[in-house]
Amino acid sequence: MKPEQKDRSLARRLAAEHNDRGDPLGWFERLYTAAGSDTRLIPWGDMAPNPNFVGWPGRHGLVGDARTALQIGCGLGDDAEYLAGMGFAVTAFDIAPTAIDWCETRFPASSVAYELADLFDPPARWAGRFDFVLEAYTLQSFPRELRAEALARIAGFVAPRGDLLVIGRLIDDGQGTTALPWPLMPRELASLRGHGLREAAVEDYIDDEDPPVRRVRAHYRREA
Ligand SMILES: C[S@@+](CC[C@H](N)C(=O)[O-])C[C@H]1O[C@@H](n2cnc3c(N)ncnc32)[C@H](O)[C@@H]1O
Repeated sequence: MKPEQKDRSLARRLAAEHNDRGDPLGWFERLYTAAGSDTRLIPWGDMAPNPNFVGWPGRHGLVGDARTALQIGCGLGDDAEYLAGMGFAVTAFDIAPTAIDWCETRFPASSVAYELADLFDPPARWAGRFDFVLEAYTLQSFPRELRAEALARIAGFVAPRGDLLVIGRLIDDGQGTTALPWPLMPRELASLRGHGLREAAVEDYIDDEDPPVRRVRAHYRREA
């Protein structure tokens, strides 16, 4: 099924407004509240698990088996629920209170622990705790100068022998971009190796959206 047509204009306007005044994280909550229940205004609000993630666990032998998983910037909760369906004990967090409210309303019987938290100031108890960490599309919504710290924080959640999967848009190192989302660059992802993670596989591919989008699925593992 073709995903519903998204209107990125509101997201882009709010992001530009907040970034211009040095508040790069403030627009997410404004977007959720301004969108109300109109998910066409939330570019990532597909109300279904990410097609770039579904299928990956099966291909890579990732099993839940009551192990712990963390989702970064969980948005409306579909990927967190998918992880819970795989048998993970899932924590999913977001900086936007309205997103967390939305998850709890959509999935009232969920086993997922939805938490309000800021990636740049996370609870200390999450350090090195998660067997699987999923980041999809949040990094690409941060201005480039926040990426190094964001990646370091994300790496810090991965337990010994744990896995991290980063999914996003991709461009070449140094390639320019203008409009949000701002794709990841290989050199940004490579910084994860400086945080004790080993690169297991990096897939650089064109998805089957219309028009097609260049994406990356980058899989890292922390050695014991
Ligand atoms: C581009 S959306 C992606 C949402 C979700 N991962 C998905 O793919 O549907 C980014 C999400 O990250 C959240 N977010 C932004 N900055 C954050 C931060 N510093 N800490 C936690 N969540 C954040 C936003 O509120 C938003 O829900």
